[in-house]
Amino acid sequence: MAIQSFPAGFLWGSATASFQVEGAWAEDGKGESIWDRFTHTPGKIEDASTGDVACDHYHRWPEDIALMQSLGLQAYRFSIAWPRILPDGVGAVNPRGLDFYSRLVDGLLEAGIIPFATLYHWDLPQAQQDRGGWPARVTAEAFVEYADVVSRHLGDRVKHWITHNEPWCVAFLSHQIGAHAPGWQDWGAAFATAHHVLLSHGWAVPVLRRNSPGSEVGITLNFEAAETVGRRPADRTAVNWFDGYFNRWFVQPLYGRRYPADMVAAFTDAGLLDPAMPFVQPGDFDAIAVPTDFLGVNYYKRSLFVAAADDNPMPVEDTANATLPHTDMNWEIYPEGLYNLLCRLHFEYRPGKLYVTENGASYKDGPDADGVVHDQRRIDYLRSHFVAAHRALAAGVPLAGYFVWSLLDNFEWARGYLQRFGIIWVDYATQQRIPKDSARWLKGVIAANGVEE
Ligand code: FCB
Repeated sequence: MAIQSFPAGFLWGSATASFQVEGAWAEDGKGESIWDRFTHTPGKIEDASTGDVACDHYHRWPEDIALMQSLGLQAYRFSIAWPRILPDGVGAVNPRGLDFYSRLVDGLLEAGIIPFATLYHWDLPQAQQDRGGWPARVTAEAFVEYADVVSRHLGDRVKHWITHNEPWCVAFLSHQIGAHAPGWQDWGAAFATAHHVLLSHGWAVPVLRRNSPGSEVGITLNFEAAETVGRRPADRTAVNWFDGYFNRWFVQPLYGRRYPADMVAAFTDAGLLDPAMPFVQPGDFDAIAVPTDFLGVNYYKRSLFVAAADDNPMPVEDTANATLPHTDMNWEIYPEGLYNLLCRLHFEYRPGKLYVTENGASYKDGPDADGVVHDQRRIDYLRSHFVAAHRALAAGVPLAGYFVWSLLDNFEWARGYLQRFGIIWVDYATQQRIPKDSARWLKGVIAANGVEE
């Protein structure tokens, strides 16, 4: 087995998000978030769970940092809960919220771990939702106020900023499909949300640069490998439709190409989008295309599509032909997709650098009689994707680091605690943490800065 070595300085990290791990949902002056409201609404979450306690990371972060250190992790991507900082969305600042993240950042730095802070990983203050939420332009303005407060307090120590996590999820999963908070099903609101999220990113970047000199600033998008095994031209059109809806709608405006013209036409023809796009104001596209230092890439799976039988332009997911092994999320494992994606992003958009800000697998393997978690399937998943990333580096992609999702088993949104993505097992009854085999394996990868193919 050949060792594939990564470049010197390549960063190995793991990732979490505030709502998924922190708990302490109503402590130290925190305001309610849309995810608090959503999880407290019956019928929204598969196992009827909430984030009220989650992994209790809010209280156990010193232990969690010690675990990261024991694994040799070099970087930690976490998110900041907006309602801890500005409980009302805007206006009064809650110093206890800032103190929490300040202690966390200091703890990371003392442990020699580089903090990567995501400003928005979906927990919008409910008060801001009540002002219209992301479909309203005022929320983009509120985000800049929040970004300013956070970066003024942490910008001396945090030198890696991610404005948003996965705008597709914020826009479409949350406002069109309705599976995530706030649970709307409204195409118009979803398009407006996409625009305001991107705009708020564009406006926040210069604020972050001003308050955090010398920092790297970027945004994280999620991408899917959309493919078809169908042979009809309409099947190719279906794949292109999904790629436009999921991938290109977000990456194109960030790199100065506005919304994809083919998709504006397709959405308009389908009666889903007002082609006047009333949410766009003069100067918006220039703001959105602000230069950044990196693009964060979240990648998990392939999705196969075929054309719908009727005239419906929306493609149909082709599960019958999805014959590759699946994880417990029922996601098809397709490392080739990561290679293709990284190459495509590099050659088409030329970001200064890229980080894989999330990649990982859900498997329910738990402790055996000896209390050991043998999660070989997660090791296999990660190994194959690390090898794919290595191939992309060899092809010239400026990939600078890789964050495994996730450090801990945690609250997996609409799936609740039924899905376990952690390299560390969490016993939710006792809050005991048990590093899985994959955690030990990752430690070896980091120590070698390489992976056996
Ligand atoms: C991504 C989210 C992350 C986690 C993984 C499995 O879409 O960013 O919070 O839930 O999926």
